[in-house]
Amino acid sequence: MSTKKRILVIGAGVSGLTAIKACKEENLDVVCYEKSGEFGGLWRYHENSDDRFPSIMKSTMSNTSKEMSAFSDFPPPSEFPTYLHHSTVLKYFEMYAENFDLLGSITYYQEVVEIIPSEDYGTTGKWLVKVRNTRTDESREEIFDGLMVCNGHHGYHYTPTYPNLALYSGKNLHSSRYKSNLGMEGRRVLIIGAGNSGVDIAAELANEKIQQCFQKVYLSSRRGVWIYPRLFDKSKPMDVSLHRRYNVTVLPSSYMEKKLEKSLNKKMDHKKFGIKPYHPVTSQTPTVSDEIQYKLLTGAVTAKKDVKEFSQNGVLFDGEEEITPIDVVIFATGFYIKFPFLTDDILRVGKNNKVLLYKNMFPPQLKHHTLGNVIIASI
Ligand SMILES: Cc1cc2nc3c(=O)[nH]c(=O)nc-3n(C[C@H](O)[C@H](O)[C@H](O)COP(=O)(O)OP(=O)(O)OC[C@H]3O[C@@H](n4cnc5c(N)ncnc54)[C@H](O)[C@@H]3O)c2cc1C
Ligand SMILES: NC(=O)c1ccc[n+]([C@@H]2O[C@H](COP(=O)([O-])OP(=O)(O)OC[C@H]3O[C@@H](n4cnc5c(N)ncnc54)[C@H](OP(=O)(O)O)[C@@H]3O)[C@@H](O)[C@H]2O)c1
Repeated sequence: MSTKKRILVIGAGVSGLTAIKACKEENLDVVCYEKSGEFGGLWRYHENSDDRFPSIMKSTMSNTSKEMSAFSDFPPPSEFPTYLHHSTVLKYFEMYAENFDLLGSITYYQEVVEIIPSEDYGTTGKWLVKVRNTRTDESREEIFDGLMVCNGHHGYHYTPTYPNLALYSGKNLHSSRYKSNLGMEGRRVLIIGAGNSGVDIAAELANEKIQQCFQKVYLSSRRGVWIYPRLFDKSKPMDVSLHRRYNVTVLPSSYMEKKLEKSLNKKMDHKKFGIKPYHPVTSQTPTVSDEIQYKLLTGAVTAKKDVKEFSQNGVLFDGEEEITPIDVVIFATGFYIKFPFLTDDILRVGKNNKVLLYKNMFPPQLKHHTLGNVIIASI
C-alpha cells in the first residue's frame, strides 16, 4: 500500500491547477475533483452562466498584464500581447497544464458537497469528503489526508436590495449573467457598481457613434471610483509601472497614495467626470479601463450617484428629485465568497467578504494544517 499522503484538490480553475502542480512536486498522491466537465474555471467562456458554472463575458480582457499574471515557473510566450483576451488566458492555462502534466490528475463531474473531520481527525488530521457525481447523481464518501480548497471567490453573485425594487417592472440581471450587448439595443440601461464588471459593461454598451442604437447608459457608483488605465507611464502596463520595489517598500504608503491619486487625476479628471471618490486610492480593488474615460467624455456613459429607490419604470438617484426612466438594470455589485461544503468553524468568511487565513492559506484555528484555501488572482 502507498505510504504517500492522499490529497484532494477541489476545483480545476487556475488555483486548482497550481495546487495540483505543488502537490506533485512534493510527491503527494493528488487527485482533483472538478464539478464541471472542463478545467479553467471562470476563464472558460459559457454562453449561459449561473452560480453553478460562472464564466467571464464574451469581450473580457485580462486587467492584469501578462508580465504580472505570469506563472513564475512558466512565463507566457513572447508573442502573446501584454493584456490577454480570455481565450488566450485559457490557452495559457492549457499550456501550463500540459507542460507540467496536470490534466491526468483531474476527475471531472465530481462535486464536493460536504466535508467533515474524519473520526480520527484529532490524531491524524484526516477529512471525510462526500462527493456527488454530477452526471449520475450518485454520492460516495472518501477519506483524504489533506485538502486544497480551490472553488474560487467569484462564483456566487451579490445583489443588494433597494426600496421599491419589487415594484420595478423593467428587466434586471446581475453582471455575472451579462454576456454581450445583444438584445440591449435602444434600451436605457443602468449599471449599478463601478468595479471592473460595471465599467467593462458600461463601456461595451455605450456606443457614442450610434447613439440612437444605445439610447442611454448610466453608471452608478455609491462612493466614486478611481480608474486605472492599462496603458500607464511611458507606455508600460499599469501594474508593471506601479508594483515596483521602490514604490512598495521605500516610499511611505501615504506619500505613494497621494502620488498615485495625482497621477490618476492627470490621466482623467475624476471630479470633472463626477466619479471622484473620497476614499484613498488603495482602499478599493483597482478598477481598470482605458475605454470608460472616453465614453464619459463623449457623454455615451453618464455617471450617477447611488440609487436611492426604484419606481415602477425607473430609479431615483441620490440628490435628484425626478425619476430617471430605465429599461434594464444590471447589478455589477460583486460576489459573495462561499464554501458551501464546509461549516463556519472550519473555513469562515468574515466581515467585508474576507477570509482570514494564516499565510493567506491556512485557517489558523484548526488543530492540523491539513486544509488550505488557494486563490490565484492578481487583482
Ligand atoms: C469577469 C472576471 C474577470 C477577471 N479578470 C481577472 C484578471 O484579469 N486578472 C486576475 O488576476 N484575476 C481576474 N479575475 C479573478 C478570477 O477570480 C481569477 O482570475 C481566477 O479565475 C480564480 O481562479 P480560481 O481557480 O480560484 O477560481 P475559478 O476560476 O472560479 O475556478 C473554480 C473551479 O472550482 C470548481 N468548483 C467549485 N465548487 C466545486 C465543488 N464543490 N466541487 C468541485 N469543483 C468545484 C468550479 O467548477 C471551477 O472550475 C477575474 C474575475 C472575474 C469574475
Ligand atoms: N476585465 C477584467 O479583467 C475583469 C472584469 C470584471 C471583473 N474582474 C474582476 O472580478 C472581480 C469582481 O469584480 P466586480 O466588478 O464584479 O465586483 P467588485 O469588484 O466587488 O465591485 C462591485 C461594485 O459594486 C459596488 N457595490 C457593492 N455593493 C453595493 C451596494 N449595496 N450598493 C451600491 N453599490 C454596491 C461596489 O462599490 P464600492 O466600491 O463602493 O464597494 C463596487 O463598485 C474583481 O477581482 C475584478 O478585478 C475583472
